[in-house]
Amino acid sequence: MAILIDKSKRVIVQGITGREGQARTRLMLDYGTHVVGGVTPGKAGIKVLGVPVFDNCQAAVEQLGGIDISVLFVPASLVKAAALEAIEAGIRLVVIVADRVPLWDALEIAAAAQTRGVHFVGPNTLGIASPGQGVVGMIGGRAESAREWFKPPLPGGTGVGVISRSGGMASSTAYYLGQAGVRISSIVHVGGDAVLGLRVPDVASLFQSDPATDAIALFGEIGGAQEEDLAALMAEGTITKPVIAYIGGKAARSGTRFSHAGAIIEGNTGTHAGKAAALRQAGAVVVDSFGSLPDAVVEVLRSRNSRSLMTDTERKAVWTSAITRIEPNTVAVRGHDIAGLMGHVSFGAAVYLILTGSKPDDRVGRLMDAILVSSIDHGCTPPSCLAARTVASTGASLSASVAAGVMAINRHHGGAIEDCARYLANLLKRALGEQKSIDEIAAAEVTRIKGEGDRISGFGHRIHTRDPRTGRLFELAAEAGLSGSPETHVGAARAVERAFAAIGKPLPINVDGAIGAILADLGLDPRVFNGIFMIARTPGLIAHVTEEQTRERPMRRIDPVNHAYDGPGG
Ligand SMILES: CC(C)(COP(=O)(O)OP(=O)(O)OC[C@H]1O[C@@H](n2cnc3c(N)ncnc32)[C@H](O)[C@@H]1OP(=O)(O)O)[C@@H](O)C(=O)NCCC(=O)NCCS
Repeated sequence: MAILIDKSKRVIVQGITGREGQARTRLMLDYGTHVVGGVTPGKAGIKVLGVPVFDNCQAAVEQLGGIDISVLFVPASLVKAAALEAIEAGIRLVVIVADRVPLWDALEIAAAAQTRGVHFVGPNTLGIASPGQGVVGMIGGRAESAREWFKPPLPGGTGVGVISRSGGMASSTAYYLGQAGVRISSIVHVGGDAVLGLRVPDVASLFQSDPATDAIALFGEIGGAQEEDLAALMAEGTITKPVIAYIGGKAARSGTRFSHAGAIIEGNTGTHAGKAAALRQAGAVVVDSFGSLPDAVVEVLRSRNSRSLMTDTERKAVWTSAITRIEPNTVAVRGHDIAGLMGHVSFGAAVYLILTGSKPDDRVGRLMDAILVSSIDHGCTPPSCLAARTVASTGASLSASVAAGVMAINRHHGGAIEDCARYLANLLKRALGEQKSIDEIAAAEVTRIKGEGDRISGFGHRIHTRDPRTGRLFELAAEAGLSGSPETHVGAARAVERAFAAIGKPLPINVDGAIGAILADLGLDPRVFNGIFMIARTPGLIAHVTEEQTRERPMRRIDPVNHAYDGPGG
């Protein structure tokens, strides 16, 4: 997880049609933030970068459904109205970018937010970011830079939470930590004004409850009492995660106008010395120069054997892959130690794991095995076999011959798995959209197909009238917990079979169609279905190539039809 922004959060942009609103929406979308809408009064109906625009937040919520976050790119004088509108519409987090928001307006926003239990960040904030998940506001600039600079935690791992009172230094802190090999869970610039929504201690409390954060790096500043309040939470034991801090403004002399409106020193509160002492007393590591912050964070993480710290290989990497981790003496597929998988999961389960990223239960593993076994070979007539044997007969290598067979696996050979899955998905979508039963939709389809002389991929077979493989696959699918109910792909396949039977033209689903329906119900991405057929058929192709080269003379004329089986049980 992360705090405030993650992949699941739905975001709208108030002021999306303005100069900054448009530019930043592009960057947020590029980074992968789930921006679902925008608001500018009087501009409802248009789209900005494909994002629909509404007149107000209420209309956006009504038409888009629940919104988690609104970010305001609205000029200071109009912020109060815009923020109150977002709060009234029930949006749970409001991020206010504008600077120079009148103090009194900020107080009114704070009061309304408190009444409605809404969080807000800012005003005068660069925003929030959770590396690898989303950016709200202006942190990180171009998406490419943000991706390069801020290193996310590994799946299920941790990172350091960054809190900054300075906008520019929020990005810089996360950047230099990344350079030192530190992963970042989230970055929050609390904003530079005197009246703020979430303050440093509030953000630290969010990091304290976040399982993906195991330490907090703070870029503090002189003025105000945010660091002192954080120290109090640490002293009373509310914040127990390590805090490593740098406080800017050490050299500021009395009377200096320093940085932000919030940096006001009153009496002894807010001085550099006071903040550093309070934090140190509460157990924080406080460094004297910004340059020493990354090393101090690394030292703390190292002493805790933290997963927020990258290995040397990870630090040097210029691109990443999420499939298999290779380190000296370690091989981990999708996070699972290979030795632990060996002997414990079937090959089918391992195929499911590498393609989906998650390990299936034993029943689904068995089903995957059955799918691979069902397609291991289909004799000498399929194009892939003929292609592999033809190339093998020229004296080509095993790899070239098998590759020729694999290259023959295509739209019309093996492709019915994907085509049938997509076809069944379309029938299910129609049933939902037209509010009809799947049997009604299937009956209409069969009438259309008959009228137009069309064919459906995955139904019927040129050799088998009752394919011996499909019944067994459906049996194993039921054992694996696939219900086959009317709203599933298997259910839709059954409806099509019933519709054909009803017109006296039984056309049962074939093995490709059955595999397509089952894989779709297992939630696999249809783009890999043809690949699953390739995985299954490769052992068969190797057997054919070897037989061709050991039994037959080179360059023989291979008859595609007239051949016979002479193996065991024949
Ligand atoms: C907020 C800010 C970025 C806006 O600047 P901008 O994009 O140049 O302003 P624009 O006038 O082009 O756009 C504002 C848009 O908000 C719209 N708007 C006004 N009231 C609105 C409301 N209640 N709801 C939604 N949109 C609203 C305006 O209509 C305008 O859109 P339009 O141009 O299509 O009419 C700028 O005022 C600002 O404060 N900049 C400094 C930010 C900063 O540095 N923050 C601190 C970081 S450390």
